[in-house]
Amino acid sequence: MREAIARLPASKIREVANAGIGRSDVLAFWFGESDEVTPEAVRRAAAQSLSDGETFYAPNLGLPELRQALAGYCSALHGTVEVERIAVTSSGVNALMLAMQLLAGAGDEVVAVVPLWPNLTAQAAIMGATVKRVALRPQQGRWTLDLDELRAAVTPATRVLLLNAPNNPTGWTLTCEEQQAILAHCRRTGTWIVADEVYERLHFGEGPAAPSFDETGPLAAPSFLDIAGDEDRLVVAHSFSKSFLMTGWRLGWLVLPRGHADAIGKLIEFNTSCAPVFVQRGGLAALQIAADFVPALVQHLRGCRDRLLPQLSALPGVEVASPPGGMYAFFRVQGRDDSLAFAKQLVQQHGLGLAPGVAFGDEGEGWLRWCFASRDPQRLDAGVQRLARALGL
Ligand SMILES: Cc1ncc(COP(=O)(O)O)c(C=O)c1O
Repeated sequence: MREAIARLPASKIREVANAGIGRSDVLAFWFGESDEVTPEAVRRAAAQSLSDGETFYAPNLGLPELRQALAGYCSALHGTVEVERIAVTSSGVNALMLAMQLLAGAGDEVVAVVPLWPNLTAQAAIMGATVKRVALRPQQGRWTLDLDELRAAVTPATRVLLLNAPNNPTGWTLTCEEQQAILAHCRRTGTWIVADEVYERLHFGEGPAAPSFDETGPLAAPSFLDIAGDEDRLVVAHSFSKSFLMTGWRLGWLVLPRGHADAIGKLIEFNTSCAPVFVQRGGLAALQIAADFVPALVQHLRGCRDRLLPQLSALPGVEVASPPGGMYAFFRVQGRDDSLAFAKQLVQQHGLGLAPGVAFGDEGEGWLRWCFASRDPQRLDAGVQRLARALGL
């Protein structure tokens, strides 16, 4: 086995979940998904596709009609994105892995803004790249990025800058001005930006937003697509998982610079060959209901966030920043510095399932991540009661 693979850490979220195996009474908020099923129109479209016998290989880059619909969807949010720049992938994580295979090789330097969903840095490690980390910091109730620190870290030796905003686990969201400063710097250093924007629609409207709005507010968090040209060294990764409640479907897409789709098509051929046709039909149906479905989902999630956050911050010793995007509350409790041990204790003794912050890197140690995407918001209240009990309150 390659040394780089042997060294990959196992998921610490799974480690906590395994500690709760066999317990049916656990309130689980550890994984990044809602307990609500995929919309019926999407499920029906996939079932219809199977019933119609669509059981064959698809083009590497996806069904032409889905690519076209994705180009329309992205263009409506961010200004014109041509269909030639879209590649359909088998999930967001697959999109990110393909981007890493395209851009980073053995010995290359990748800079990542952390804490960060660990899959992104693991993918760089799988390619044999080295990862340099720049840490976000909580300041006055917000997670913030020190732009000067990032600029100092990204040099002409940096092949890829990995950014995930809205961020898992902190909810940190880049402003348009920060994106402009980062893009200008990366143009100077010749660095590729891999922007993981899978949570772009889960944006709660505070602060500067993307140019597109409807009556409910901004439709997406600021995106690098709002400001970059189609020849910039920018790859944006997307997913159907979060905005359409489709985590189990494994469908995502990439927006590439002009002229790069054929190379990604080759990589898709050698990885998965294509996303399944019936899954892509589900994706098409999701885009057709997006205009109604996504704002309603975001409103529900905002309600979940606004129900959980005040309860958490009212607990003595708890520090939490209200997330402007995503679906996670990232918080810490004074005196509980070992997040893995604390998360295991919470599940074993109190039936509360949270993700340990250390799963997102050493910078997350001492913190816990709570996914607030809950169909029934009262589950969140019950969770807080269990946490309060665990803290002896
Ligand atoms: C930051 C981030 N990027 C990408 C993904 C990938 O999502 P999926 O592979 O389900 O499309 C996730 C899932 O949790 C995530 O949190």
